[in-house]
Amino acid sequence: MPPGRVCSGGLKLAVIGGGSSYTPELVDGVIRRADELPVKRIALADIPDSREKLDIIAGLTRRMIQRAGLDIEVTAGFDRERAISGADFVVTQFRVGGLAARAQDERIPLKYNIIGQETTGPGGFAKALRTIPVALDIARDVERLAPDAWLINFTNPSGIVTEAVTRHTGARCIGLCNVPMSMQRMIAARLGIDPRSVKVEFVGLNHLSWARRVTVNGTDVTRAILSHDLVRREFEHAGGVGGAADAPGLLDALGMIPSYYLRYYYFHDALVEDEKRQIQEGRGTRADQVMAIEKELFKRYADPGLSEKPAELSQRGGAWYSEAALACVSAIYNDRDEVHVLNVPSRGAVPDLPDDAVVETNCLVNGTGAHPVAQGPLPDSIRGLVQHVKAYERLTVEAAVKGDAGVAYLALLAHPLVPGAAIARSLLEDILRANAGHLPGFEKPLKDNKDS
Ligand code: G6P
Repeated sequence: MPPGRVCSGGLKLAVIGGGSSYTPELVDGVIRRADELPVKRIALADIPDSREKLDIIAGLTRRMIQRAGLDIEVTAGFDRERAISGADFVVTQFRVGGLAARAQDERIPLKYNIIGQETTGPGGFAKALRTIPVALDIARDVERLAPDAWLINFTNPSGIVTEAVTRHTGARCIGLCNVPMSMQRMIAARLGIDPRSVKVEFVGLNHLSWARRVTVNGTDVTRAILSHDLVRREFEHAGGVGGAADAPGLLDALGMIPSYYLRYYYFHDALVEDEKRQIQEGRGTRADQVMAIEKELFKRYADPGLSEKPAELSQRGGAWYSEAALACVSAIYNDRDEVHVLNVPSRGAVPDLPDDAVVETNCLVNGTGAHPVAQGPLPDSIRGLVQHVKAYERLTVEAAVKGDAGVAYLALLAHPLVPGAAIARSLLEDILRANAGHLPGFEKPLKDNKDS
């Protein structure tokens, strides 16, 4: 689609994983941007197992659109190809194995005193193995059925999935995360100023990024932000662990604001203890908590009297998701030359990484796509960690693409949070066993040294 041109009959937005509880967030964004994005069709696609959720979401989507007085056709079904055909933008937000698989991802690593997390560490590795083959299938559908479409990937682990798609398909894919925008909004809110005047420069990988420069109306305020009490508290107390007492001087030494996923590295052991404590106290893992939130959310969504995004959705972690997604879509569609923080191949922007490695950084976004802004070499304080995690990510992509348990073993071995070969191997065996139904490519057993 050439920049700024509406395809016949307005824009078509396909949502893969349409039955997700986040869909009303996305629809809310479409409604709020109706003046600049002439969306005429929303095609929600999901799998038959999600039939009930998809029906509820489709009903709420139609009510939201009707209430907004917009003329948008909403379709919902299991025919992914039909949803993708002729789409201008395809948003992916699916979860292979659902929250039950996430709960396993979060529990297995704890056995080895490693953080149990949806995207970081072995949990994110397991999710990537389940997700990448499906993401590649979807991307190939997009290539075939909507070759000019932009594929906006929100599916986690977003950076790894985006790297798999950009390296192994020809689909025009951009990865998205809500963390950079959440941080920018949080800084603006704490300072009590209009978020439009706050610009933040990010560098790193998805869920492994640092805000290294903050400007307000063009003036560099990074040092002031770093010592701002409220901002310090926000970051240092993330997860209830890692307060000023745990990390005296961390922000000053770094000179950058770590995104809150860095807490899994900077406060790893304390967070492992915290997770174990939560399980012992019967609160379960985050997946268990999200399952309970979702149950209530879908009850709300099913209420025929509800015709807007309910406040209860804010209990999920995806704040600003639709804003981030639709700001990017609008900058492409309207050929705006705006800067957004996105996940794209580095192409030299971060010279410490391979050109095709996906990075999360500021990008210039216009009708030709998202172009990363040159960052120069990474500072010594973060370069090692970024390269270490990127090596793990690339091995994970290779393992998922080939269905190769040997490469999967190397990926875990390369992860900075996995201490050694014996644990890497046991973890992998546990993960492959627990995910057997979702990893058809991994039937060949792991080799022993005695195997030739
Ligand atoms: C953050 C992350 C998302 C993640 C979400 C989890 O916003 O950026 O990638 O999916 O948190 O939230 P949840 O409510 O599922 O724990």
